[in-house]
Amino acid sequence: MDNSHKLQLSKEEMREYGYQVIDTIVAHFDTENTKKPVALASREEMDLLFKMEAPEEATNYKEVLDFVTEKVLPNSNIVTHPKSYSFVPGPSNYVSVMADTLATGFNVFSGGWAASPAAAELEIVTMNWLLKLFKFPTKKGGGIFTSGGSMANLTALVTARRQRCGDDFSKAIIYLSDQAHSSNIKAIRVLGFKKEQVRIIPTDIEFKMAINKLKNAIAKDRLEGLQPFCIIASAGTTNTGTVDPLTEIAKICKTEKLWFHIDGAYGGAAILSKKGNQLLKGIEKADSLTIDPHKWLFQPYEMGCLLVRNHKWLSQTFSEKPEYLRDIEGNTSEINFYDHGIQLTRRFRALKFYMSMKTFGLSAFKKAISYSINLAEETEAYLRKSANWEVISPATLAVINFRYNPIGTKYTEKQLDAINQKISKKMVDSREALLVTTILQNQVVLRMCLINPRTTILDIKDTLKTCESFAKEIV
Ligand SMILES: Cc1ncc(COP(=O)(O)O)c(C=O)c1O
Repeated sequence: MDNSHKLQLSKEEMREYGYQVIDTIVAHFDTENTKKPVALASREEMDLLFKMEAPEEATNYKEVLDFVTEKVLPNSNIVTHPKSYSFVPGPSNYVSVMADTLATGFNVFSGGWAASPAAAELEIVTMNWLLKLFKFPTKKGGGIFTSGGSMANLTALVTARRQRCGDDFSKAIIYLSDQAHSSNIKAIRVLGFKKEQVRIIPTDIEFKMAINKLKNAIAKDRLEGLQPFCIIASAGTTNTGTVDPLTEIAKICKTEKLWFHIDGAYGGAAILSKKGNQLLKGIEKADSLTIDPHKWLFQPYEMGCLLVRNHKWLSQTFSEKPEYLRDIEGNTSEINFYDHGIQLTRRFRALKFYMSMKTFGLSAFKKAISYSINLAEETEAYLRKSANWEVISPATLAVINFRYNPIGTKYTEKQLDAINQKISKKMVDSREALLVTTILQNQVVLRMCLINPRTTILDIKDTLKTCESFAKEIV
């Protein structure tokens, strides 16, 4: 009898398949250092490999798996690689990878209490860990795991608008700095705010939101009869790791009665280190705070998180009571996370956070984060002592920006921009390290984000030496 409609493999086949998958993942973790972190391929090359009509007929499962292992997986950047310095790396960890496998294997529905009391409970438990770490009120506070920082920022702004503006937000104004992450602007757009309702506040020489300019903008808007409503501060900008003056912004929010959202997607996790804790003073004053465990809390994609001072703000914003969910409402202590955010059907994200924290212990996470902050400072010291390199923004929360600018040379700014752009291009083309540029104060600079606890100073020195040899070929 043809049983293909059941979409099943036999027990033996599943086991064999699973072992092969696990072996592949373990080999990846084990050998990634020996590989090149950058994948380069054109659309034509990818089409040539993969383009096909939806296959009507079955293919042997091992053949499909081998094909994916050989062709699909190698054609992605290795964001866990020690020399993957750009954007925000995703160092991940194996325990969480396995946790995700379990959550997916059981296809746990993490929307409502009735579907999985344990999944909801673990989200409550882990959320409480985070509330405590960030010194948010643990009784009243709440939060939700999202797919990432972008969704956490969006969820925050939906909540803020609902709480502060109700249905009419035509005069509401939002303030954020020119260094704020683009996901905030995207969220603002998704919510239907017009361009004229957004104030991009310039940053000072250290890339922090300029408080005086912020105060001016709010005052002018009030004079115009508009309704200042929300300030978005960055706790670790993506470009430079800079933390906005959180305590001062908190004060402004208090006197002006504005919603205080902090985007800590990049830097929030640094609260686990002494230096980070110092820099992040004031983070506990936010109404809503985005953090992003799939960055510096070492979780595999996708895992973001939103924390709020009052869990009721979420349920007031996101509860809908369709008739088919009536029977599973439960009591209020049994949280239905579909009432706290946008998604109804949600994967079981809390599991990986829970399992990795339990397995490694918070102390390992603290050490890993302190290690990265120190590594960036060590890199800064090394660059400063070198005759070839100029530090453009100092090591801050494990980010450092610098450029090739040897002493004794007299390159124009334009030439320096071109040289550094070419160094990055040559590096990426060589696939030896993922090292791209950003723009700071109109200068093209190289940026390293060093949150991978497996990156060493030797990796960095090696990459810088390669950059220097590229530079010699260029100039
Ligand atoms: C400061 C900041 N906010 C938000 C985001 C968006 O997060 P995600 O990519 O997880 O959606 C990022 C991503 O790099 C970020 O650095």
